[in-house]
Amino acid sequence: MSRLFLSRLWLDGLAAALLLLGLAYWWQGNLVHEVAGTAMFLLLIAHNLFNRRWWGGIPRTRREPRSLFNLGVTFALLIAMLALLVTSVLISNALSPFLPPWGGFTVRQIHTFAAYWVLVVVAIHLGLRWPMLMGVARNLSGIRKPSALRTRALRMIALGIALCGVWSVAVLGLGGKLSMQMTLDWWNFEEAVAGFFLHCMAAAGLVMVVTYYGLRLVQSALPAKHRRPRETSSAEPAQARRG
Ligand code: HEM
Repeated sequence: MSRLFLSRLWLDGLAAALLLLGLAYWWQGNLVHEVAGTAMFLLLIAHNLFNRRWWGGIPRTRREPRSLFNLGVTFALLIAMLALLVTSVLISNALSPFLPPWGGFTVRQIHTFAAYWVLVVVAIHLGLRWPMLMGVARNLSGIRKPSALRTRALRMIALGIALCGVWSVAVLGLGGKLSMQMTLDWWNFEEAVAGFFLHCMAAAGLVMVVTYYGLRLVQSALPAKHRRPRETSSAEPAQARRG
């Protein structure tokens, strides 16, 4: 596993952390929110430059469920991120002296709507890369041999996170936020800070677990010739190994 690839993963983790910080608008206020959002967009530009070969390979995408789903999810992520970027510029306090007053209530609503969808789609994006991320964790912790006990323990943890996620979706009112309903039930950061981040991570964890195991179920139902070999051995995608 190259050091460059590991650094890329750290940057991906930082982008995910900045996304969560951005969702916690009422914790630190507007300045921190705008700085965190800008840093996240810069990191995501770098992320896509590192993954530029993937974009170039789109015409050669294999016609099998996992690859087509990955393609659809990446485009959904692109659209949600662009919606977030455009609305960020329109409602930015820092940019308001230089822009006409376009950032009304509806734009703010679209901004929040896009932000919560980004959380969900990023979780699907990570669920699709789960075998690779587990490969990295295995490499870093020096695990060489498979163990049925460890696999069972990790599956129990995944199940636990998914169950917490169901509760977190309700606590955060995610259903309303993802369907653009008007709500005034913002998280009270004076009462608890860590709870907000833990609930967001559990909700994202639920989506990752459903994506990963859902795809495994679909793959196992496919005729053998359409099945993809399981990604277990390499922690680093071939694309990243090439550069
Ligand atoms: C906080 C947001 C995001 C996180 C945490 C994240 C995470 C990851 C991770 C861990 C990987 C595999 C390792 C790597 O190549 O760096 C990856 C791959 C990739 N990501 Fe993201 N990503 C995010 C946002 C985005 C966005 C907004 C796009 C594009 C619109 C995108 C496009 C891609 C592409 C094209 C790949 C390569 C796909 C492949 O090899 O199958 N990502 N992402």
